[in-house]
Amino acid sequence: MQPPQNLNLDPSSSYQPALVAKHFDEFGIREWERLTQTPSDEVSLAIHTHYLKQYISHGDLVLEIGAGAGRFTQVLADLGTKIVVADISSGQLELNKRLATEYGFESSVEDWQQIDICDLSGFETGVFDVVVAYGGVFSYVLDRRDLALQESLRVLKPDGMLFLSVMSLWGTAHRYLDGVLALPPAINQKITESGDISPTTFPARQGNFMHLFRADELRQWLEQSGARIVKLSASNCLSLLWEQKLEQIKQNREKWHELLRMEIEACADAGCLNMGTHIIAVARKA
Ligand SMILES: C[S@@+](CC[C@H](N)C(=O)[O-])C[C@H]1O[C@@H](n2cnc3c(N)ncnc32)[C@H](O)[C@@H]1O
Repeated sequence: MQPPQNLNLDPSSSYQPALVAKHFDEFGIREWERLTQTPSDEVSLAIHTHYLKQYISHGDLVLEIGAGAGRFTQVLADLGTKIVVADISSGQLELNKRLATEYGFESSVEDWQQIDICDLSGFETGVFDVVVAYGGVFSYVLDRRDLALQESLRVLKPDGMLFLSVMSLWGTAHRYLDGVLALPPAINQKITESGDISPTTFPARQGNFMHLFRADELRQWLEQSGARIVKLSASNCLSLLWEQKLEQIKQNREKWHELLRMEIEACADAGCLNMGTHIIAVARKA
C-alpha cells in the first residue's frame, strides 16, 4: 500500500486530513454495515446503486475514491468494471481488501491506494472512464472541495462520468431535527448560513467536520467547474422517517418494490432534492 500523499496539517484550512483518516480508521467495520442496518439504509443503498447500474458499462475503468469498506466496490465489481480503490483511511482500505477477498470480488480491483481526493497527482490526466465518490467525500474536505472536484474531473476521460453523494443541509435537519434543535441557536444559525460543521462554526463538536450542501448550491458548483449534470437525486426522501413501518413494508415484496420505484422517482423531483440525508449527482466531464 502506498504511503499517504498529503496528510500534513495546513493551519489555513478548516480541512484536517489526518483527523478525517483517524475518524474512519476508528469507524472500522461500521462503515461496511452503514447501508444495510435498517430498511431506510437499504433504500439509500438501492438509490445509489440504481445510478451506477443505469450509467456504468461493463469494462469501464473506475476510480472509487473514498471507497470505505467496499459496499459500492462490490456493486462496481458486479457490473464488470475494473476498479482502483482509494481512500484516505488505511483502516478502511485494509477492510476493503479483506472483504473483497471474503466476498470474492478482489479480482475486479486493480489496486488499493491510500490517497486524499485533493491530490490525485499519482494519476495521469484523462485515464478513468468513471470516478465514484459516494458517501460524503466532497463534504469531508470542507474548504478544499473545489480542488477535490478539479482533481476528480482531471483524471476522467473526456465525457467520463462522475458519481458523487454529499451531505444535505436540509435533509440532515429533516432526519435529525431533535439533535439539530438541541444545539444552541447561535451555533445552529452559523451552520445553516454557511453549510459548514467546522472548527469555526462548531468548535466543541465531537466527531468529524463536514460541509452540508443545498441542492442549488451543488448544481451551481458542478456547473461552474465545467461538469455537465446528468442527474441529481436525494437519498432518501419518502421513507426517511418511517423506520418502524418500513420493517413491515419490507416483509411484503410487492410493497417494497413499489416503495423503491416511488423513492427513485420522488428523490429526483426538484421538490424533494433537499429532503434526504444525502444528495447524489451524476455528471459528465465536458
Ligand atoms: C461515509 S464513508 C463512505 C464509504 C463508501 N463510499 C460508501 O458510500 O459506503 C466516507 C469514506 O470517505 C473516505 N474519505 C474521507 N475523506 C477523504 C479524502 N479526503 N480522500 C479520500 N477518502 C476520503 C473515508 O475514509 C471513508 O472511508
